[in-house]
Amino acid sequence: MDWSALTYITILILLFLPMSAPDDRLAPGKPLSPGMTIVSDGGAFTLGFFSPANSTPANLYLGIWYSAIPELTVVWVANRETPIRNDTSSQPTLYLANTSNLVLADGDGGHIIWTTNLTTTTSSSSPLLPMAVLLNTGSFILRSPNGTTLWQSFEHPTDTFLPGMRIRANYKTHARDILVSWKHPGDPSLGSFSYSSDPGSLLQFFLWNGSRPVYRSAPWTGYQVSSQYQANNSNLVYQSIINNGEEIYLTYSLADGAAQTRYVLTYSGKFQLQSWNKSLSVWAVLGEWPNWECDRYGYCGPYGYCDNSEVVPTCKCLQGFQPTSMGEWSSGRFSEGCQRKKALHCGDGFLALPAIKVPDGFVHVLNRSMEECAAECARNCSCVAYAQVNLSTSTTGDSTRCFVWAGDLIDTEKKIDGNAAGSETLHLRIAGLADSGRIQERNILKIVLSILASVLVLMCISLVTWICRSKGKRQRRDNLNRLVLGDLDIHEGFGAGSPTESFDFPMVSFKIIVGVTNNFQKSYMIGQGGFGKVYKAMLDGREVAIKRLSKDSNQGIAEFRNEVVLIAKLQHRNLVRLLGCCLEGDEKLLIFEYMPNKSLDALLFSSARKTMLDWPTRFRIIKGIAKGLLYLHQDSRMKIIHRDLKAGNVLLDEEMRPKIADFGMARMFGDSQQKADTKRVVGTYGYMAPEYAMRGIFSAKSDVYSFGVLTLEVVSGVKISSTGHIKEFDNLIAYAWNLWKERKAMDLVDADIVKSCIPDEALLCVQIGLLCVQDNPNDRPLMSSVVFILENGSAAIPIPSQPAYFAHTDEQTELVRGSTENSKNSLTITVLQGR
Ligand SMILES: *[C@@H]1O[C@H](CO)[C@@H](O)[C@H](O)[C@H]1NC(C)=O
Ligand SMILES: *[C@@H]1O[C@H](CO)[C@@H](O)[C@H](O)[C@H]1NC(C)=O
Ligand SMILES: *[C@@H]1O[C@H](CO)[C@@H](O)[C@H](O)[C@H]1NC(C)=O
Ligand SMILES: *[C@@H]1O[C@H](CO)[C@@H](O)[C@H](O)[C@H]1NC(C)=O
Ligand SMILES: *[C@@H]1O[C@H](CO)[C@@H](O)[C@H](O)[C@H]1NC(C)=O
Ligand SMILES: *[C@@H]1O[C@H](CO)[C@@H](O)[C@H](O)[C@H]1NC(C)=O
Ligand SMILES: *[C@@H]1O[C@H](CO)[C@@H](O)[C@H](O)[C@H]1NC(C)=O
Ligand SMILES: *[C@@H]1O[C@H](CO)[C@@H](O)[C@H](O)[C@H]1NC(C)=O
Ligand SMILES: *[C@@H]1O[C@H](CO)[C@@H](O)[C@H](O)[C@H]1NC(C)=O
Ligand SMILES: *[C@@H]1O[C@H](CO)[C@@H](O)[C@H](O)[C@H]1NC(C)=O
Repeated sequence: MDWSALTYITILILLFLPMSAPDDRLAPGKPLSPGMTIVSDGGAFTLGFFSPANSTPANLYLGIWYSAIPELTVVWVANRETPIRNDTSSQPTLYLANTSNLVLADGDGGHIIWTTNLTTTTSSSSPLLPMAVLLNTGSFILRSPNGTTLWQSFEHPTDTFLPGMRIRANYKTHARDILVSWKHPGDPSLGSFSYSSDPGSLLQFFLWNGSRPVYRSAPWTGYQVSSQYQANNSNLVYQSIINNGEEIYLTYSLADGAAQTRYVLTYSGKFQLQSWNKSLSVWAVLGEWPNWECDRYGYCGPYGYCDNSEVVPTCKCLQGFQPTSMGEWSSGRFSEGCQRKKALHCGDGFLALPAIKVPDGFVHVLNRSMEECAAECARNCSCVAYAQVNLSTSTTGDSTRCFVWAGDLIDTEKKIDGNAAGSETLHLRIAGLADSGRIQERNILKIVLSILASVLVLMCISLVTWICRSKGKRQRRDNLNRLVLGDLDIHEGFGAGSPTESFDFPMVSFKIIVGVTNNFQKSYMIGQGGFGKVYKAMLDGREVAIKRLSKDSNQGIAEFRNEVVLIAKLQHRNLVRLLGCCLEGDEKLLIFEYMPNKSLDALLFSSARKTMLDWPTRFRIIKGIAKGLLYLHQDSRMKIIHRDLKAGNVLLDEEMRPKIADFGMARMFGDSQQKADTKRVVGTYGYMAPEYAMRGIFSAKSDVYSFGVLTLEVVSGVKISSTGHIKEFDNLIAYAWNLWKERKAMDLVDADIVKSCIPDEALLCVQIGLLCVQDNPNDRPLMSSVVFILENGSAAIPIPSQPAYFAHTDEQTELVRGSTENSKNSLTITVLQGR
């Protein structure tokens, strides 16, 4: 394309730009009418008017559908009960009314067909109307000028449950979100099937046909995560039930790069998980509820259960029960269920049945411990069963969840195994089973004797264990025992010969992490770096930072695990502490202590907050970083080169003590040589030593270079990668070097803190900074000398030579090659170019 054409197009674009509002929103004063659409920023969803295929007569609806899917797939409908006749004489419009409501009105006479129906309080006083935007998640939202969401289509679901959406139930108001199926494919009006939480307990979800239950999910067990795999494994779905004490909701998210996936309540009464198969151009069904007859609500009758652990699931009677009518049962009609073989007596005991989806009709007894729950049922003769679970997150005040049953046990299911989602132990009262409180007399002697024997054995065992333990504790310097994260799912020991043998390192299960981060929801994310995303969450009552590593590690699980355990053994007051990890399938997550004051860059480079770092604090921070780095380089049992030291990787605790984060990452990612050439350049341009950035050679001295840059940043409060020039200089290093040369190094000190500054200390820091950024790695000091100088202010410090920055003018080509490997940082590459 030649230049004149390009200019012409540019002018055209410029001409048209101011006239068209972004087309992901409803423009003020420009109502939406049939034929017009709103497309989300990102392009995934479209809002507009549609007529369902084979709808007769052709009715118009306002709805949202997938933009890229050729077969019209509507995920939300506004006026599902009030269709608009498609005739050109009365063009309907959607507009923002001056009551701050979305209004869908008929062409003739402005008859209101549908509205968001918000009662507004501020509409007359505020001249600004809210904004109606279609998000790329598929939610159409009404946002007030101050940014609060007034209304969103995600909170008014129709028949489709999209990733990020919630099906909620509120404990106080008992308000529930309900999915309702379409009547048939050509008619979005309310069908007979609905999906929502149980209006009674709110702790389980139901699919209803009218008012009759069709399918019931397992009740909430504290956390519940189930994963679904598409055949090719990349389409993971993380589903969870979150209970925050105020409301309980079902939600899910997708793995990165998964195909378009949705849950939909079909007009034929199935709750389906579907994923779009591009090559076949169909919605592939990944999961379906109810799945088979045996899965239907109450199919096996009272006291019967569906045995899903069999290859072909079948109805069976619970232990102690037999079919009510043998004839019916054997001819495959199970609805009459089962009856007791022997009548119950008040003192009968309980049989524990593991791996059960517990029956419906429970009474949720609040405020009962495990023992109290069992006692609650044992002392009440009409109680036939109980089930309790430990809650990993006690949002409701209870640390356990206690259910008791008095009536028929209906809709019980045996799960494939005890690890299946929603599987728990049911304690069933059975005739003839002795209750621990009412032991029959002739057995007393036998029992007393056996109890005595076991007590003796137990005492011996615990004595031996105690001796071993206390011995072990004395030997163990790095005892992480205290840090074991409560009674979460913790697997210890990885087999003989592994480095964990003498080391209690908590492995946390993935489903717990999914639970506490609400499926890695954006609002839990506190950072993102080269190695992955970081989330903040509460784990067993403490705040932790969870790093979800990106999946490009080329190490095997076993090696990776060994590296993690080695790294976890590094402990220093200037290093962020690794508390645990999770390795499951592709997922690698590290759990760190959470640092309330965030990272150094968040304070240092914020004009509002930088004054929180006065000179004494900054000097302490520089010294702390130096000590942490020295420990990594020399004092730890293995030599660790950080390779990505920067202000963003220094965290501050509540007393502004610095802690280095992300150490050992390069090692975990499979580059564990001491000094090496590497094709994979990790790190951040600007902080990277020239020999590393340009030739991929790294050593402890490349960390020293980064430390130098960081020191100059802390002194000056100026970012190495700041885009604007500093005075007439291209970057911070050039600026610092020139001030130093002209004996005006004090001018480098951040003007905002110059009052609290001690000149000798500041000059020392500038000099060390410049020594560390010298071109020749051999000229740069070791961290041990840096720490010594900072602590003692040595008189005989070398004079820095001209820094690396000026040296290379002919290596830009190589740099550019490096930048393609690291494209995310390529914008800051100019920092290293000579003039
Ligand atoms: C409404 O009807 C007209 C003609 O009757 C047709 O061209 C148009 O596509 C219809 N609109 C929709 C959304 O189906
Ligand atoms: C709006 O809300 C009022 C009261 O809540 C109700 O009576 C009315 O029917 C609603 N209108 C529409 C169009 O939903
Ligand atoms: C809103 O608009 C209607 C006419 O469309 C007008 O009668 C009414 O006064 C307006 N209300 C406010 C609060 O501006
Ligand atoms: C934002 O505006 C809405 C009304 O438009 C009001 O209800 C809400 O309180 C406001 N929120 C804040 C934080 O100002
Ligand atoms: C739903 O209920 C209706 C009658 O209430 C019944 O005719 C229909 O077969 C049921 N459908 C399913 C899928 O259970
Ligand atoms: C697996 O599925 C994803 C999403 O549907 C698709 O992008 C990817 O190409 C598939 N991979 C293979 C190997 O089929
Ligand atoms: C689509 O379906 C075909 C046939 O079942 C399967 O081979 C292919 O992997 C699927 N593609 C995706 C992206 O799931
Ligand atoms: C829970 O039970 C204990 C005694 O078992 C009682 O002291 C406490 O007040 C109860 N708490 C609530 C919230 O009911
Ligand atoms: C026994 O349990 C039944 C059913 O839960 C309940 O109605 C009754 O009040 C309980 N009796 C006692 C004494 O707790
Ligand atoms: C609940 O936790 C306690 C210890 O806190 C444990 O003894 C008990 O076995 C656990 N119960 C279940 C059902 O997991």
